[in-house]
Amino acid sequence: MNPIHIVGRGAIGSLLAAKLVNLDRLFTCEVRSLNNLPKTVLNLDKSVTRLPAIITHQPNILDDSIVIVPLKAYQIENALRDLAFRLPKRASVVLLHNGMLDRKAIKALLPNHSIYLATTSHAAKREGSQIHITGTGTTQFGLAKSPHSPDAISTEIASIKSLFTRLISPVSYSDDIDQILWQKLIVNAVINPLTAIHNIKNGVLGDSAFTKVIMNIIQECIEVASTLSVQLEYTVMSELVRSVIQNTANNYSSMHQDLKNHRPSEIDYISGFIVSKGKENGVDVSENTRLLDQIKRLEQANENHSK
Ligand code: PAF
Repeated sequence: MNPIHIVGRGAIGSLLAAKLVNLDRLFTCEVRSLNNLPKTVLNLDKSVTRLPAIITHQPNILDDSIVIVPLKAYQIENALRDLAFRLPKRASVVLLHNGMLDRKAIKALLPNHSIYLATTSHAAKREGSQIHITGTGTTQFGLAKSPHSPDAISTEIASIKSLFTRLISPVSYSDDIDQILWQKLIVNAVINPLTAIHNIKNGVLGDSAFTKVIMNIIQECIEVASTLSVQLEYTVMSELVRSVIQNTANNYSSMHQDLKNHRPSEIDYISGFIVSKGKENGVDVSENTRLLDQIKRLEQANENHSK
């Protein structure tokens, strides 16, 4: 079995840590600061898992480790820069976040390691010093790049799949991770800014008052994706968005929670990504631009408030 290393103790990092504790699996975890870390996880069955204390910021990462990086999109580049000189040769890295990153920059940061991209709809949120698991979901991952042989890559994929199956199942490996990430991006481009701007739970987006704006967002995103050679169907995307809204009706989106708690949001990697790729490729992205601007204004208001 590969050693496991988790970067950060946010909501999803803690969810993974709790699942490992419940399975009696040893793992290491690194954090930027030892202050104010969550201590327990409230599982869906109402049982509570105590998270192991972290006594050192950066424990050694063992050879052959699966290194899971479940951070906010805006934290990933710095985290990888920091990991680059500490990763043992045969470690593989799995990035698990909302939004789209600059793939070239990420690849350049870890030229000698396999990087996998993953997305999960398992959900958790922080309440004081406890993380609450708020829903189960599905997980998909795919390879971004690897310097290794096809055989070595197959072994890595099998190990990651087997690990994730025990933690955040059901899990599937996709040869076309871009399709999957774009689908998740569109779900986030609809739900996250709208719930944060209107201060609502995800389920309220099922009201007919939101039908038009949701349609515009999805259409713009699909056009941008197609200029980047990712083909998505409007009806499929609209159905996916509708089902996520329904399945997470009682949740507050991560962006809603970020703004409520005066944290920076991932808007630059969600609507910001769509707007910048749209402008580069001559696509009308006015709806996404409006949302981007509104979230930026809310972030600014939060910043002014805390000065
Ligand atoms: O960011 C989030 O909150 C989640 O990715 C999702 C799927 C929108 C549900 O709230």
